[in-house]
Amino acid sequence: VRAVRIVSETGPDTGLELADVPEPESPASHMLTPGRGVLIEVHATGVSFPELLQTRGEYQIRPPVPFIPGSEIAGVVREAPDGAGFGPGDRAMAFCALGGWAELAVAPEFLTFALPSQLDFGQGAALVLNYHTAYFALVMRGRLREGETVLVHGAAGGVGTATLQVAHGLGARTFAVVSDEAKERIARQAGADEVLRADGPWKDEARELSNGGVHLVIDPVGGDRFTDSLRSLREEGRLVVVGFTGGSIPEVKVNRLLLNNTEVIGAGWGAYAMAKPAVCAQIDRALGPLIESGRVWPIVGAHHPLEQAATALHEIDERRATGKVVLDVRTG
Ligand SMILES: NC(=O)c1ccc[n+]([C@@H]2O[C@H](COP(=O)([O-])OP(=O)(O)OC[C@H]3O[C@@H](n4cnc5c(N)ncnc54)[C@H](OP(=O)(O)O)[C@@H]3O)[C@@H](O)[C@H]2O)c1
Repeated sequence: VRAVRIVSETGPDTGLELADVPEPESPASHMLTPGRGVLIEVHATGVSFPELLQTRGEYQIRPPVPFIPGSEIAGVVREAPDGAGFGPGDRAMAFCALGGWAELAVAPEFLTFALPSQLDFGQGAALVLNYHTAYFALVMRGRLREGETVLVHGAAGGVGTATLQVAHGLGARTFAVVSDEAKERIARQAGADEVLRADGPWKDEARELSNGGVHLVIDPVGGDRFTDSLRSLREEGRLVVVGFTGGSIPEVKVNRLLLNNTEVIGAGWGAYAMAKPAVCAQIDRALGPLIESGRVWPIVGAHHPLEQAATALHEIDERRATGKVVLDVRTG
């Protein structure tokens, strides 16, 4: 089967190779669920920051080369373990951790979900990682309540658009922070009530528009805007740390937290969810009605053919990506 592998940790231009690899063994097995893997004919697969970092050997999950990256897939089930809630021929979306950039991939049973009829394969590949993260960060870590205000950084990106849609769908008022006009349009499409510019006085605007500060900041960007994020919170506000696309890992002077009675909370979905099948099922159930009612509808900013994975990685690296970047693996 066709697959794109990382063959050297030298970056997207020289580190990737399109290869013909053997089919996964049968019965399918996944490292998280040995002997109980779901074999999926992949139609679309997601591209994210971790794969970019993996091409440079800079991500915490660092298998020996060569390996097939790709953690997000949508397609058709070819083989599922007995007792799974789905079987051959069913449309599915899954988080597979690795191996997704291929025509056939294996996902753990508890991270494979029915692909709702409202979504196409590209949207399915965009769903599990970003929307489970969004729900986890907003609700399970950030304790979001209906009617609260949420400020989202990197709001036109994959995690950002997901967070806007989920927050909006749960009855929050949303502020998006983005860097340009095209991203402003995407953020509005994702349901942002207010859009603020990253290079403008967004902190003051957010404080004013929210009447004294937001309840929650969701931050996949980090870097030098962190202190202003804390300043944009109201009393008892929470800042949820999700990622560091800005490049640097911020430091916090904890006196700020004491002075304003605020919190900084970490949200690492992967490590948490991978050990907790019940949590994954709970989040899937919570997202279901949001998908059915059209409030969650992943925005895919770009489709590329599998063999153009490097182009997709450059888009992310150069901050040009909007919504989710997807590789089409099979057509039709
Ligand atoms: N904690 C978790 O469980 C979890 C789960 C999934 C992903 N993540 C992490 O969340 C982060 C966002 O992922 P994503 O898929 O949403 O990425 P993405 O689609 O590429 O979006 C990232 C956004 O970051 C902003 N940004 C600011 N400075 C940037 C820079 N120097 N280079 C690139 N982008 C920059 C950009 O928005 P503006 O241009 O508008 O500023 C961009 O839209 C990543 O670090 C990822 O690893 C964490």
